[in-house]
Amino acid sequence: VPLKPLSAKDEDDEADIAAGKTKVTVFYGTQTGTAEGFAKALAEEIKARYEKAAVKVVDLDDYAMDDEQYEEKLKKETLAFFMVATYGDGEPTDNAARFYKWFTEGNDRGPWLQQLKFGVFGLGNRQYEHFNKIGIVLDEELCKQGGARLVPLGLGDDDQCIEDDFTAWRELVWPELDQLLRDEDDANTVSTPYTAAIPEYRVMIHGPTVTSSVDNYSNMPNGNASFDIHHPCRVNVAVRRELHKPDSDRSCIHLEFDVSGTGITYETGDHVGVYVENCDETVEEAGKLLGQSLELLFSLHTDNEDGTPRGSSLTPPFPGPCTLRTALARYADILNPPRKAALIALAAHATEPSEAERLKFLSSPQGKDDYSQWVVASQRSLLEVMAEFPSATPPIGVFFAAVAPHLQPRYYSISSSPRFAPDRVHVTCALVYGPTPTGRIHKGVCSTWMKNAIPLEGNGDCSWAPIFIRPSNFKLPANPSVPIIMVGPGTGLAPFRGFLQERMALKQDGAQLGPALLFFGCRNRRMDFIYEDELNNFEEEGVISELILAFSREGSQKEYVQHKMMDKAAQLWSLLSKEGYLYVCGDAKGMARDVHRTLHTIVQEQV
Ligand code: 2AM
Repeated sequence: VPLKPLSAKDEDDEADIAAGKTKVTVFYGTQTGTAEGFAKALAEEIKARYEKAAVKVVDLDDYAMDDEQYEEKLKKETLAFFMVATYGDGEPTDNAARFYKWFTEGNDRGPWLQQLKFGVFGLGNRQYEHFNKIGIVLDEELCKQGGARLVPLGLGDDDQCIEDDFTAWRELVWPELDQLLRDEDDANTVSTPYTAAIPEYRVMIHGPTVTSSVDNYSNMPNGNASFDIHHPCRVNVAVRRELHKPDSDRSCIHLEFDVSGTGITYETGDHVGVYVENCDETVEEAGKLLGQSLELLFSLHTDNEDGTPRGSSLTPPFPGPCTLRTALARYADILNPPRKAALIALAAHATEPSEAERLKFLSSPQGKDDYSQWVVASQRSLLEVMAEFPSATPPIGVFFAAVAPHLQPRYYSISSSPRFAPDRVHVTCALVYGPTPTGRIHKGVCSTWMKNAIPLEGNGDCSWAPIFIRPSNFKLPANPSVPIIMVGPGTGLAPFRGFLQERMALKQDGAQLGPALLFFGCRNRRMDFIYEDELNNFEEEGVISELILAFSREGSQKEYVQHKMMDKAAQLWSLLSKEGYLYVCGDAKGMARDVHRTLHTIVQEQV
């Protein structure tokens, strides 16, 4: 579980300013660590280029305790960069949510940021409707509130190569900062091209008498007052069940985490974040490629042996001594395709010149097409890439700092309602398993773990995982008599199962339920019709007014949920015109777009 860095101290600022330095703050709003990585890279380069700059990298959540403090502190910023990701349905990342709400909603502060020069780089994905919404809005608001835009807004697109977008945007920053931060003495000197130093932790190897502190994590009591991404709660797997029927050649798992006695609470429609481990096979392979024993006990440090800081913005992924086995299992993302920055780090450690050349080429602007073909389109994992360049064996301090990103928690829609299951968090998870273009069998880290999880039965050992709840906006109408239409093929059904449990409980409490249609689709009734009995029961109980099914691989023609929606066009329109809610959950690229289009057609035809 990642360590939370201590937030920067305000006293340092005053000392820096007194020393004639210019304060530069690089804020980040990150969900999976990319924005954080970019913020750190930008900060490193600013530090390296301008002696005058006192640079800080700041997590937007850590910056201030409350709105007042945001205001008070922001007023003092004169030069700031914001690296902000857009998440889900045009939402800010968890760590930027509080700041974003305060900064953009209902303010009448006027142009109060006239002292501020700023630049915004947004991280988003063009496949989603609200591409880079957070970056766009923040950039506009900063201007509106008086800030001076130093560089045009950067729009990073993760559907292509977001690292290239970031590199291009960064080039716009330097001429501006040259004006502001270059010392007068250097005014006439030409700036030398900057090559980023490859980040590296200092590694301390420990003898066998030292106990591994993270391994003891498994004995940590559930004592935290509140759980979040930085403080997850260890919970047991209470139930694990296969949802597909015997005829299916795929797998979908129903899993229940036991949260009794932990203090964890959730609301229907929330998400659960789950930390899991790479499987043994993957860890063994990584150990071999690194040429190290998996029993090696080591710790990672950001200071030098004499205690002086190494001057980088890194945060070690784990706190104390840890075996390489545990470090690779819990903290290293090794099955995703490597970023270009990782290839650069590998190149620097390749002893075979031809390998170093090829790695450098792949990460260079000229190698762009090769990178997108050979790495991204082929879904070559970091391990596969390392196996192709056997001479490129980075030391573990480099591996954890620059080659393998931190393994991220996986998010699932919770498929239960706390009214029905207060002590359990249910997850419905399709197994990710299949060949990639290189012929490797890709096994999803979390779904594979869930498939193999051992549920608690009697007094036996069981699987456990650190989890936390991520609140969501995917909620039932406050008034249960408002009509709802749910469209959720495949595991898109998950949050609706929670909705239906909730409605069942409401009904039992005497509430009057409005109409509810559920459109569910799968391949074949005999294979992947998940929760069939439960859904039929919900219908019998009147919790769903109608269950509408689309089986795509039963007949000669594909039947999808949107075809069924067309059949019911008049009824859908009638519910929508009574202020009904419509929910769609599932594959965003294919299904959700097609459903959206179908809705347009329905509305056009029915109005
Ligand atoms: P298919 O795999 O037979 O194409 C759950 O995954 C269900 O969603 C499956 O029946 C799947 O059908 C179907 N599906 C795939 N693409 C879809 C799309 N664009 N719109 C609606 N349903 C889709």
